[in-house]
Amino acid sequence: MNTVISRLSGGAEDIGIFEAAGEIIRSGGLVAFPTETVYGLGGNGLDKNAAEKIYAAKGRPSDNPLIVHISEPCEAEKFAYTSEMYYKLAEAYMPGPLTVILPKRDNVPCSVTGGLNTVAVRCPGHAAARELIKRAGVPIAAPSANVSGAPSPTSAEHVVADLLGKIDMIIDGGVCDIGLESTVIALDGGKCIILRPGYVNEEMLLSVCDEVQVNRAVVDLSCVSEKAASPGMKYKHYSPKADVILVDAPDREAFIKYVVRNKRGKWAVICSDTEAEALDGGIILTTGEKYDTIEASKNFYSNLREADRMGAELIFSELPQPKGDELALFNRAIRASGGKIEKTL
Ligand code: TXA
Ligand code: MG
Repeated sequence: MNTVISRLSGGAEDIGIFEAAGEIIRSGGLVAFPTETVYGLGGNGLDKNAAEKIYAAKGRPSDNPLIVHISEPCEAEKFAYTSEMYYKLAEAYMPGPLTVILPKRDNVPCSVTGGLNTVAVRCPGHAAARELIKRAGVPIAAPSANVSGAPSPTSAEHVVADLLGKIDMIIDGGVCDIGLESTVIALDGGKCIILRPGYVNEEMLLSVCDEVQVNRAVVDLSCVSEKAASPGMKYKHYSPKADVILVDAPDREAFIKYVVRNKRGKWAVICSDTEAEALDGGIILTTGEKYDTIEASKNFYSNLREADRMGAELIFSELPQPKGDELALFNRAIRASGGKIEKTL
């Protein structure tokens, strides 16, 4: 299949790109597009065949449900049963990096929801994503636009590397601002349960919900079961080809010492500028300034992909904190490493 790659310029020419992409979606094809989190692989969210094409292009197990993207929060009414809490959350954080699980209506194909009777709804904050949804005139089902299991794509180049020749079109909107996928939550009256942490964190949700719980599988891989509340949590995820070791070090010196003692073969390290300047001889990839979680999140997947591209066999990475604004990074890091955490002595 020929994949058309169209780069957005921010000018009037972009209208033609959105029109062409909207037509592809309406006629059952697939378009990769930028969002503020990661690139999505979009198809008509109410078309069973489009969902099947998405699973095939990604090589994704079909019991892992897709997120349905809308351009305005109220569009959820057309295919889901909303609630007062949904609209309170929408007012606070939509459009934005928040996905809410709602009971589904009958018009959502089971192939979109992996056979569940709920549907994940997200109104992205990225202007291009919303324009595409408007032009398509249908809700857009979109998982991240990577090959299943690989690090999520945060630039059009990443999508090209994974999906060229397998989909109809890629809209290139540059690098994603946030770099980690949206927060996924389930609702239980006034209570909200975080199934996948993201930029919209516990504290932000607490300003709207009466109570916020974090599903245990978010921080503990050993409680990811066949019956995972969010099926995506049970699969190996976000993994580069290289082995990843998360180094649990109390300070900079301990981290550096660990890497120097344990480096072997073609090794890479992902750490902040402060550690990076003391290391050499390997592939040094920085997350930005120390304690800058926003920058570290933005660079996380691209660093993993870059290590792979440069042929790394082993990647050392700093272990994020399993709380606060590092919770999302921690959650992705333990999945990327398959839970391999080494404590320094
Ligand atoms: O930021 C994002 O959310 C990106 C962009 C493209 O919007 N999309 C994304 O989609 O990350 P995906 O398919 O890679 O991840 C969707 C997650 C999976 O973990 C899936 O199991 C969960 O959402 N999910 C979807 N529908 C669900 C449902 N009905 N109940 C529970 N979890 C659900
Ligand atoms: Mg994904």
